[in-house]
Amino acid sequence: MDKSKLTAQNGAPISDDNNSISVGSRGPLTFDNWQLMEKLAHFNRERIPERIVHARGYGAYGTFRLTKDLSEFSCAKFLQNTGKETPVFARFSTVAGGQDSGDYVRDVRGFALKFYTEEGNWDMVGNNTPVFFLRDPQKFPDFIHSQKKDPKTNLPNPAHHFEFWANNPQSLHQITILMSDRGIPFSLRHINGYSSHTLSLWNDAKKRYWVKWHFKTNQGIKTLNNEQAAQMPAHGMQEDLVQSIQNGDFPTWTVHLQIMPEHEAIDYKINPFDLTKVWPHSDYPLIEIGQLELNRNVGNYFSETEQATFSPANVVPGTGVSPDKMLQARLFAYGDAHRYRVGANHNQLPVNAPQCPVNHYQKDGAMAGMCPYHNNTPNPQNASVNFYPNDRTENGAPAHTPEISEPEMIVNEANIGKYDSRDEDNFSQAGELFRLMTPKQQDFLTGNIADGLSYASPYAQERMISFFQQADPLYGSLVEEKLLNVLETTV
Ligand code: NDP
Ligand code: HEM
Repeated sequence: MDKSKLTAQNGAPISDDNNSISVGSRGPLTFDNWQLMEKLAHFNRERIPERIVHARGYGAYGTFRLTKDLSEFSCAKFLQNTGKETPVFARFSTVAGGQDSGDYVRDVRGFALKFYTEEGNWDMVGNNTPVFFLRDPQKFPDFIHSQKKDPKTNLPNPAHHFEFWANNPQSLHQITILMSDRGIPFSLRHINGYSSHTLSLWNDAKKRYWVKWHFKTNQGIKTLNNEQAAQMPAHGMQEDLVQSIQNGDFPTWTVHLQIMPEHEAIDYKINPFDLTKVWPHSDYPLIEIGQLELNRNVGNYFSETEQATFSPANVVPGTGVSPDKMLQARLFAYGDAHRYRVGANHNQLPVNAPQCPVNHYQKDGAMAGMCPYHNNTPNPQNASVNFYPNDRTENGAPAHTPEISEPEMIVNEANIGKYDSRDEDNFSQAGELFRLMTPKQQDFLTGNIADGLSYASPYAQERMISFFQQADPLYGSLVEEKLLNVLETTV
């Protein structure tokens, strides 16, 4: 293929790409300026909507190597046989900022992984924190609105952050992590990743286990304080990731699971499906199962990182979800976002395409069956029959596989309704985290909170202090004392 000739989109060589066609050297342009029109029109369409959250992202490819056979817990093929390797695409992100926002903000980091398994893509769409601000998805858009820019000024507004949190005590555990020294990572190589949610595995005998995934950085946790972060170049984390991979200094994570047999969830002292809580390690120890390595940069940021579409609904046989309400809502939200942001056939793009045969009876839609994108998989839409069931399965038309049906899930008899979780235990685990911090970390945490809280209304300040107090009396009194100091010095 001759790559030296500049062409138009139809492949035809272009004689002059510097000058438009005009009537005389000073003249108006003519309508046959198709090359100019194509160039301008395509330019106008270079952007797709950015992600509504996690817009600023950083992607890389890598490998997951299983170091412990998990056939006891799951029939998923990528979890069988020690030493098994599965290709992976990873995307890290910040949550609240736009696509070109700064890298060193105090924010949760997204930690999303796509495992291209031989049975389809399994996505682990987690964060660098083991819990989240909410346990009910009905609150998610309000929460995000409060953390993003003020609708009037288009600036971040700490008063809104704390006004939301003062109305939602369930956020306290996650606030304690966000405001701690871990709130601003030194780099993406120095963060842990967590499924945060309880997910599930199930084995050949149709026995289910609840699991939480932990990806512990082998580079060690490394963080920045506010002053150090302010000195960093706006997009230094992007550079750090690209450079380290380019230099062969591949970041790695040790992968662990916490595993709970299905029936233990019924009587466990904590609701294991509450996303604001962890399972203490003393109850469910970490079991090491693998290594994740990132070892290849993307070839094109837009095609790969920007158009990557991760979804918690991407499960494969032997893996599953859980009754966690937040997770249940996410099963809808991501596919919907992808169809809007990238298009109905987003799964046909190379970064999203499963690295196994894809056969279904879904049809057409924008950009369907783009052959160049299907070098590694058959076009899923080329079956000569487009309905199911049909009479042609004996001749090779795709048929379903009843053996891989997921075990039924037991749901306790309960009334359907809206259940207010406001008065559940919102504080114990925030207190536990506070107590395991060194006095220096506690000082940093409470000083940080006091700075932000000083922008909130006195009413919100009062409620927040009472929440911190309920987590740990020292936590509450340190925040209160530091808040008074900040307020006095800013009067
Ligand atoms: P453990 O003492 O067994 O574990 C404490 C955990 O806290 C370690 O995983 C440690 O991570 C992590 N940690 C330390 N500082 C911070 C911080 N500033 N932000 C986030 N995590 C931090 O305790 P338990 O399992 O009994 O849990 C106690 C508390 O620890 C929980 O309430 C929770 O806040 C926190 N935690 C618990 C996790 C879990 O899955 N059980 C996971 C992460 C945090 P590391 O080893 O990387 O230093
Ligand atoms: C991205 C919704 C909670 C992690 C997104 C996107 C949406 C969304 C719409 C953009 C998707 C896209 O355009 O490709 C929600 C809803 C939630 C929720 C409705 C709760 C009800 C969570 C939680 C986590 C999480 C709890 C982590 C445990 C992520 C990550 C991304 C993301 C990592 C970026 C994925 C990528 O890199 O493309 N979320 N989210 N989200 N979310 Fe959530």
